Amino acid sequence: MTTALITGSTAGIGAAFARRLAADGHDLVLVARDAKRLREQATELHDRHGIEAEVLIADLAEDTGIESVATRLGDRRNPVDLLINNAGFGNKGRYLDVSMADELKMLKVHCEAVLRLTSAAAEAMRERGRGGVVNVASVAAFVPRGTYGASKAWVVQFTQGAARDLAGSGVRLMALCPGFVRTEFHERAGMGTDNIPGWMWLDADKLVASGLDDLARGKAVSIPDPRYKVLLGAAKLVPRGMLGGISSRTGRKYGPQ
Ligand SMILES: NC(=O)c1ccc[n+]([C@@H]2O[C@H](COP(=O)([O-])OP(=O)(O)OC[C@H]3O[C@@H](n4cnc5c(N)ncnc54)[C@H](OP(=O)(O)O)[C@@H]3O)[C@@H](O)[C@H]2O)c1
Repeated sequence: MTTALITGSTAGIGAAFARRLAADGHDLVLVARDAKRLREQATELHDRHGIEAEVLIADLAEDTGIESVATRLGDRRNPVDLLINNAGFGNKGRYLDVSMADELKMLKVHCEAVLRLTSAAAEAMRERGRGGVVNVASVAAFVPRGTYGASKAWVVQFTQGAARDLAGSGVRLMALCPGFVRTEFHERAGMGTDNIPGWMWLDADKLVASGLDDLARGKAVSIPDPRYKVLLGAAKLVPRGMLGGISSRTGRKYGPQ
């Protein structure tokens, strides 16, 4: 029996990971801030799939929250075989519209927590000679627009570099880069989504299935949908300066408002 730890397990993409990994027979450590929701999720997954589901209440925007999850990941007696660094959020508004406190909170959750949790997990996994880490980034990582995309670009670069450094150790690291997924993300940020074309939306369960397939194939970066593969392939042909302009214009027209 293997154990997976998922941050941000209670909603959206994290909940899809929890459903899929429980169905596959993995025990789970579920991490988020809302204790009631975590306990209900743990009971439901245990009852449905017969797996053990542990609850870890932690705010990854706080040092104490990051430390408690890092301690669990470093527990050699109850090893974690797969870490899904998924917790994240968006801030509504363009650069300078968002308060510095909110910008720093995003960096803490998207970058510092991901660095510290990946490191705690990878160290223990390297000792055992096996394990996996999925860091949930975004296709926004590949477009020079906004601090959200910049934080996710860090996740992609960090994960690719760490995957290379740990090659041959038995530890796999992969950045998962979704496009738009219908979750609580946009509503929590107060963003309207009416003008995002229907074809751009991905299904969270399908996204997780192709992400896990890509991890099994040993990919360091997963863009788990042909539509976004084509879009990003086309974006690579455009000079970066021009890409920023196009992305700002199309983002204003077809992006979250
Ligand atoms: N939805 C999209 O279109 C999309 C696209 C690309 C990438 N992503 C990325 O996918 C990941 C998951 O997003 P989602 O769309 O599934 O969002 P979501 O539906 O809003 O779920 C976010 C999850 O993260 C937890 N969380 C938020 N802040 C946290 C904190 N400070 N500490 C601990 N847990 C926290 C939430 O639970 P609590 O509130 O209880 O803590 C919840 O379980 C994020 O990293 C996001 O950037 C999303």
